[in-house]
Amino acid sequence: MPHTTAQPGVPTRAGAARPTATLTGVQPTGDLHRGNYVGAVRPLAGLAADPARDVYVFLADLHALNGRPDPAVLRERSRRLAAALLACGLDRPNVHVYRQSRIPAVAGMAALLANVTAKGLVNRAHAYKAAATANVTAGRDPDHGVNLGLYAYPVLMAADILALDADEVPVGADQAQHLEIAVDLAQQFARSYRPGVLREPRALIPPATATLPGLDGRKMSKSYGNAIPLMAAPGELRRQVRRIVTDSTPPAAPKDPGTCTLVALLRAFADPGTVAAVEERYRTGGIGYGEVKARLADAIDARVTPMRTRYERLLADPAELDARLRDGEQHAGRRADRILARTMDAMGL
Ligand code: TRP
Repeated sequence: MPHTTAQPGVPTRAGAARPTATLTGVQPTGDLHRGNYVGAVRPLAGLAADPARDVYVFLADLHALNGRPDPAVLRERSRRLAAALLACGLDRPNVHVYRQSRIPAVAGMAALLANVTAKGLVNRAHAYKAAATANVTAGRDPDHGVNLGLYAYPVLMAADILALDADEVPVGADQAQHLEIAVDLAQQFARSYRPGVLREPRALIPPATATLPGLDGRKMSKSYGNAIPLMAAPGELRRQVRRIVTDSTPPAAPKDPGTCTLVALLRAFADPGTVAAVEERYRTGGIGYGEVKARLADAIDARVTPMRTRYERLLADPAELDARLRDGEQHAGRRADRILARTMDAMGL
């Protein structure tokens, strides 16, 4: 039976409620930007504010390996990502932050799941298909430069989810197919072995309107190079905000607040009163983009300064950061060990 819950807290057969397990992973491929914060981290912190949830959030460092990052770079990115997550409202008793690579049961689960994974299912997964298609377009062998890590990415991701008995998985729309694969593998396992061993997860996908525009007005994304780093220092932040592309409507002319990147960003960071006042002045005319940019930078700064302070403190104290991760790893590791043992048993190991 799929465990779908609108409200957190899942009734158990004994009549009591157990917490909803909410799980998500973030790849340490670069610094968090404001789009990640508004689209993923802030909503996750919102879910975690409900004590009826147990939240598992991990650095997908095993997943990052398929890009073959330099080891020192990967280590540094992981540290910065862990500090950023903890600084962004996820440092709470019901949130467990951990490194995927420190939970051996996850890799163990991936090895088990490989045997209920049809190769054809993975052939259709979009990351691999995109790489294969790009190769063919360039006249190369479809598998040129493709390692097994990239190919098996969805199996490892299913292992992340199934090894922790996740009920709900908040992810971007680009991960919907991966979630479907995780559900598929849980169902395949139930058919091949027995039901009730692996819990079927459910994706929590934010509406498309939740994506934040970047400096050029397109969706904010590391790969478009239009991202504003989350923890940028105030001077750097102001410089970035000044770079945001606007049209050449003069200050006196009325403007449409519905199509302006600055207003879209302001809505994500400023209080509703400020947003309403700016929108009104767009309609009547008399506000220049320079002024809106200054307000936007102020709003982001007010929101981010306390987080940046905490972030810098954690980065400056590696022992503290390590201790926080070890707590998360102990908790997640114990849970995953139990689930892995149950899965092995069902398979005859
Ligand atoms: N693939 C996800 C991404 O690139 C990261 C990820 C890895 C993940 N394992 C996961 C997300 C498990 C949710 C659940 O964004």
